[in-house]
Amino acid sequence: MLSVYSLASGYGPAKVLFDVSFTVKAGEVVTLIGRNGMGKTTTIRTIMGLLSPSSGRMVFEGERLNGLPPYRIAQAGIGLVPEGRQVFPTLTVEENLVATAAARFGPPRWTLAGVYELFPVLSERRRNQGNELSGGEQQMLAIGRALMTNPKLLILDEATEGLAPLIRAEIWACLARLKAEGQAILLVDKHIDPLLRLADHHVVIEKGSVVWTGDSNDLTSDPYVRRRYLQI
Ligand SMILES: Nc1ncnc2c1ncn2[C@@H]1O[C@H](COP(=O)(O)OP(=O)(O)O)[C@@H](O)[C@H]1O
Ligand SMILES: [Mg+2]
Repeated sequence: MLSVYSLASGYGPAKVLFDVSFTVKAGEVVTLIGRNGMGKTTTIRTIMGLLSPSSGRMVFEGERLNGLPPYRIAQAGIGLVPEGRQVFPTLTVEENLVATAAARFGPPRWTLAGVYELFPVLSERRRNQGNELSGGEQQMLAIGRALMTNPKLLILDEATEGLAPLIRAEIWACLARLKAEGQAILLVDKHIDPLLRLADHHVVIEKGSVVWTGDSNDLTSDPYVRRRYLQI
């Protein structure tokens, strides 16, 4: 579905990514793992067309993404839940959801009713503005908003950051349900245990390069790999 080959990218003269390659197949959950500042968000921003790669190739469903503007990449079927949520503060919950709604071919999987069923609290808060929501509600709104684009691939960057354990559990349950429905997901998160349960494979990034790839079993069964990449 998504193939990233030897991607290099950064912010103007500041090189951040040097050699990032990985794939996400249909229906898979794949994680990007790495300590703070290693280049996970930069990888996601480059895929979304917010940064231009200096070399490498990104292909989504057979279409080359290099050089496409962000709205075209969203139209191609990649939905982003960005770091820091970034819901529209002065729009209501419902306006936030409708703002990004996009139907693909045939009836869309995700509608307002579907998002409200997934997150009932959003239905209760539908007339509240984004800035009146709790952190957890904002996160659910950010996920709902990405789903309203009916993405083939959903990308979440630190979606459980700063949330209470109970709310985090709700987000994980939601992601497990999406996976069970066959939703492809690319995931960055600091909470390793839920990632190990959910993901088909993991991609470890260090200093802008992919240094290890494998499944949850590979990651936890090898003491060296565990210590080196998970610090556990
Ligand atoms: N807007 C920016 N301008 C310049 N450098 C940046 C910018 N954003 C991030 N960086 C740098 O890029 C590196 C990777 O950051 P990032 O991709 O956000 O890491 P991660 O998401 O893995 O924590 C860091 O060294 C960070 O300081
Ligand atoms: Mg980040």
